[in-house]
Amino acid sequence: MRTPMMAGNWKMYKTIPEALALVEGLKKNVADVKNREVLVCPPFCAIASVVAALKGTAIKVGAQNMHAETKGAFTGEISPSMLVDAGCSHVLIGHSERRQYFGETDELVNKKMKAAFAAGLVPVVCVGEILAEREAGKTLAVITVQIKNGISGLTAEQAKTLVIAYEPVWAIGTGKTATPAQAEEVHASIRALYAGMYGNDAAQAVRILYGGSVKPDNVADLMKQPNIDGGLVGGASLEIDSFTKLVAY
Ligand code: PGA
Repeated sequence: MRTPMMAGNWKMYKTIPEALALVEGLKKNVADVKNREVLVCPPFCAIASVVAALKGTAIKVGAQNMHAETKGAFTGEISPSMLVDAGCSHVLIGHSERRQYFGETDELVNKKMKAAFAAGLVPVVCVGEILAEREAGKTLAVITVQIKNGISGLTAEQAKTLVIAYEPVWAIGTGKTATPAQAEEVHASIRALYAGMYGNDAAQAVRILYGGSVKPDNVADLMKQPNIDGGLVGGASLEIDSFTKLVAY
């Protein structure tokens, strides 16, 4: 009932020519994949070129970050409406690298999420624990705070449209994937928590992606879990072959 989503987070990789080479390959390979939503999130500079190259295909384009205000004197920042203007349909909010290196808090994540919806973008809000928190047995407590504070205040409709990504920080870019059971435990508790916040319909509709070293050889087992609705993929989304395999898992 929930359409699986495979999202590529290119991070700070790919010049415009490199980005275009990647999407040309993806267009050939995944154009006729059924029952999947495919999203690519290039760096800002490549967004408009990627949107133009993907015109007429079902592959969607998102940004990796945005500012929460619609306009203003915020040197170096990009507004939600600028992303819409460039052709984005989605935006990642609160990726752990934003939280870790750029000081983003749950409060800011909440502001950005609401600003994204207000502009007509679908936010993909990222949550996840660091290794010390997992080792201390605090994973579910940490995720609960991130969801309650970061994802509060949605309308019923927005609550169904939102995409959540669970990305354990210790699994990102490390090659150490969470086991399907570890991921499923967190995904199931996120869905239960969400049902408490927004009701059962929203909890059944919201897609919860797993991220953190998703690769062609582990995607199928992750996707077998009842509460895992897709992947947010860094490294393996940068190559035509590996991302094609992930989309077609
Ligand atoms: P990874 O990154 O797939 O390279 O671990 C995932 C992410 O940061 O979204």
